[in-house]
Amino acid sequence: MDEFTVKNETILGYMPGSRERKDLEAALKKVESTCEDVPIVIGGKEFRTEDVRYQVMPHNHKKKIAKFYYATPDLIGKAIDAAVAAQKEWDAVPLKERIAMWLRAADMMSSSQWRPVLNATTMLGQSKTMIQAEIDSAAELIDFMRFNAFFAKEASKYQPVSENPAVTLNSHRYRGLDGFVASISPFNFTAIGGNLAYAPALMGCATVWKPSDTAVLSNYTIYKIMTAAGVPPGVVNFVPADGPVFGKAITDSPHLSGINFTGSVPTFNWLWSAVGKNIGRYVNFPRLIGECGGKNYHFVHPSADVKTTVVSTIRSSFEYCGQKCSACSRMYVPKSLWQQIKCGLLDTRDELKVGDATEHDSFMSAVIDDKAFKRITGYIEHAKSSPNVELIAGGGYTDECGYFVEPTIVESKDPRDKIMTEEIFGPVLAIYVYDDADIEKVLDLVGSSTPYALTGAVFAQDREFLKYAAERLKMTAGNFYLNDKSTGSVVGQQPFGGSRMSGTNDKAGGPHYVLRWATPQSVKETF
Ligand code: SER
Repeated sequence: MDEFTVKNETILGYMPGSRERKDLEAALKKVESTCEDVPIVIGGKEFRTEDVRYQVMPHNHKKKIAKFYYATPDLIGKAIDAAVAAQKEWDAVPLKERIAMWLRAADMMSSSQWRPVLNATTMLGQSKTMIQAEIDSAAELIDFMRFNAFFAKEASKYQPVSENPAVTLNSHRYRGLDGFVASISPFNFTAIGGNLAYAPALMGCATVWKPSDTAVLSNYTIYKIMTAAGVPPGVVNFVPADGPVFGKAITDSPHLSGINFTGSVPTFNWLWSAVGKNIGRYVNFPRLIGECGGKNYHFVHPSADVKTTVVSTIRSSFEYCGQKCSACSRMYVPKSLWQQIKCGLLDTRDELKVGDATEHDSFMSAVIDDKAFKRITGYIEHAKSSPNVELIAGGGYTDECGYFVEPTIVESKDPRDKIMTEEIFGPVLAIYVYDDADIEKVLDLVGSSTPYALTGAVFAQDREFLKYAAERLKMTAGNFYLNDKSTGSVVGQQPFGGSRMSGTNDKAGGPHYVLRWATPQSVKETF
């Protein structure tokens, strides 16, 4: 295997007049003025059905940017057959060649031909601001491709012990999972779609990929790039579909070898139980890998630096409208710091501009769709009407042109109120102010008041407390931050995932993730 090392993709600055800014503006114009026809692609062939859907811009929902089609159960079956048929030949392609393909794809994604398209489709289709798109559909996506290739190469070096190789030689090799892997991806990170569909493919699996309806265009762009980089027909099949129809078709197939999922807890539960019901009929035990949300916290100690706490919390709670899986949505603040932190949060929040994703001074734009809008505003109405909760900033919303919700801050007198414990997935920060003397009780609450354990952060200048909190809270977050916001994990630096109801914690962007998509064989040769 050829040696190579990797580093994280540089995040571009998009200064006015810069080459990347001009390229991005041209791409935005093109995407905005077109309604791209996005086919279902199975075994390299395009299909269209009568069940026509549209992807609209969340910040201007009258504007359609993509027309796509829901696959029928019959077509999903065809996609499964195409993947199963392609898998063996694909797995026989030497890992070295697959790795070269992934590195080539990463370079294409980084190029001035494709990077602006990835970012423009993400900005317009998922209402991300320029910087939020750049860290997702450029940097994180490219990092997933390069780091997974690197981790696959490193894993392939493993040599088992052979005590006397002249007599007995032991070796170890990986192959892809036979059958097919179903990849079900979310809207909130374009990069996650690329990772869910293509990490298994890198390892020799074939996938049937159901992108989110609200990320179809950016996800199809990834499909086009990977195909142009050399991924053969049938290895990844691009199949937009109704969720329950897709779920039933894949879990009914005896060839299901894995599900790579990011989405809600109820959907992941449904998939597990469908697999459980069908367990007798599979060729292999399917591997179920899922990341399913959280109720991420910022815990503030009386020794915390106020400015760091405020800036980190505003960014974590409101960047991309709080729609990152890792976003902070509950905060615990000691009474001794509350007035300072409250002023800081309110002043900083007042400066945030909510607007179109393409306006360069927008801090955040619209939430993803009407369903999200209803759910989030339902929590805001709860805050307005509940005697336990006080709205301290924001609380406004309108869906007239786009699904806009103000960055909203509430104080809850009850640390177990639903606003403090349920996932909202929107720009709502709930705060519980605790008596400094009750710190131990509040540390208990952090872990016991929600079923999740995705991300969490502790703010303190007292290093002894940080050490203590890290141990005390170790079950409460798969990604844990000390004096930093709970968002912004970087591939290869902070592999991402959580346990409890947040998922199977397989750590996307880490060295072990790719091995979830390979099945090893130990070989003993005796001379
Ligand atoms: N990298 C993202 C974050 O940590 C999640 O994918 O916010």
